[in-house]
Amino acid sequence: PVLVVDYGAQYAQLIARRVREADVFSEIVPSSTSVADMLAKDPAAVILSGGPSSVYADGAPQVDPALFEAGVPVLGICYGFQAMAKALGGEVAQTGRREYGGTAAALLDSASSTLLRDQPAEQSVWMSHGDSVSAAPAGFRVTASTPDTPVAAFEDDERRLYGVQWHPEVKHSAHGQDVLVNFLRSGARIAPDWTTGNVIEEQVARIRAQVGDGKVICALSGGVDSAVAGALVQRAVGDQLTCVFVDHGLLRAGEAEQVEKDFVAATGVKLHVVDAVQRFADALDGVSDPEQKRKIIGREFIRVFEQAARDVVAEEPGSGEVRFLVQGTLYPDVVESGGGTGAATIKSHHNVGGLPDDLAFELVEPLRALFKDEVRAVGVQLGLPEAMVHRQPFPGPGLAIRIVGAVTPQRLEVLRAADAIARAELTAAGLDRDIWQCPVVLLADVRSVGVQGDGRTYGHPVVLRPVSSEDAMTADWTRLPYDVLARISTRITNEVPEVNRVVLDVTSKPPGTIEWE
Ligand code: XMP
Repeated sequence: PVLVVDYGAQYAQLIARRVREADVFSEIVPSSTSVADMLAKDPAAVILSGGPSSVYADGAPQVDPALFEAGVPVLGICYGFQAMAKALGGEVAQTGRREYGGTAAALLDSASSTLLRDQPAEQSVWMSHGDSVSAAPAGFRVTASTPDTPVAAFEDDERRLYGVQWHPEVKHSAHGQDVLVNFLRSGARIAPDWTTGNVIEEQVARIRAQVGDGKVICALSGGVDSAVAGALVQRAVGDQLTCVFVDHGLLRAGEAEQVEKDFVAATGVKLHVVDAVQRFADALDGVSDPEQKRKIIGREFIRVFEQAARDVVAEEPGSGEVRFLVQGTLYPDVVESGGGTGAATIKSHHNVGGLPDDLAFELVEPLRALFKDEVRAVGVQLGLPEAMVHRQPFPGPGLAIRIVGAVTPQRLEVLRAADAIARAELTAAGLDRDIWQCPVVLLADVRSVGVQGDGRTYGHPVVLRPVSSEDAMTADWTRLPYDVLARISTRITNEVPEVNRVVLDVTSKPPGTIEWE
């Protein structure tokens, strides 16, 4: 792999993704990783990421100079560039001047540069730094500068060591991806072999090796991750896998059918459907507190799934215990949970959380090394339905946390109808890729007066909550075109009799969360 050494900013994941977009496998390691541990991974190259600190700050992570003697090509970015300069005997000056944002860089002799080959002599690059490299280490030639930073890029082709002060991984750096590709191809001479086809092949082999002739179970939620994970395992071990779909009655229009029909048709998977609609309805009866709803749904889900696992075993007499459980854990979850990387624990993730100990499963996590866009690409290649592969995020507790008030079957019907209209219009307007998601929320305990035809109505409002986001941690409300909003409003109030008002949520996150509950 290409190792991306994480100096603690948010940039490491982005760098790792960009490397993979160049068809090269990348892996993030914490800056505390020793050179020996890095070399043990047999890296094709190492990229030192940006970071928040000054190389002179107390406890600032340094680079062990031994890394540069190992014969492994290295690219230093921003903080990594400065740490590299310092470790190799260059000079880093505390100028006290910050360069931040788009900056004009002047390339020096780009024709003969490895990283900057044939790029425009003047270009805009994205900077975010305080200290600056004031003198390149011996053996390096300087290949770019900015008004405030005389040494903005350097390279030593002999030792295959390279560095840039700017952030090539962000799209604001006009030729950023070219810098990374040049490093990988020309500097490090790595063949581009991280392709979707290879990913599938490799994962299939791994799953087979892990599972042997054991039985595997997978809970499908209707979401992208569990579907792709299930499809991969199906590809690997066929009928040793049983997928379980718990229909809790809280999905949106068409989603249960997508799992029960389209997914099965596309994969040939053995599906065990549990109709738990009534059970969830009973458990949620009269409950309006959001946290209560979440707890009840989580608890019921585990109980139903547990029983389903026992049933699956019982259905196949003599075929052995179900020993493996598929989980759709993704690489960002692994990195953020500190899984083997030492990064800070930001949040812990559960897909099928808190299964009881007496159902001891070994986990199969075929997406553990993948970013979301890679998961989608794998899904497409495995022939999964488009609507499933490109589905926007949808919360596990489903529509229950989009009904403000108690959840009833009738209210679910109303919300499902309104939501289907909003989704259809957004899709028709070509806006699906512009928004992160657009919850539709039913204010079931609120009524307002309206007029329709000649009659007075006394119905409920629904809220449209279109948001734009990178990662759901923060979000802004999406400025949807008025005509699209008008169509959604007209259709919902015409076609859903219980709803006589459509309102728009114009709150960012923070302070509002994306969901209302
Ligand atoms: P909030 O409302 O916290 O939502 O801003 C952030 C993102 O997470 C989704 N979400 C959930 N997803 N189980 C999930 O799997 C949940 O309980 C849950 N609650 C919120 C939400 O849709 C948004 O994308």
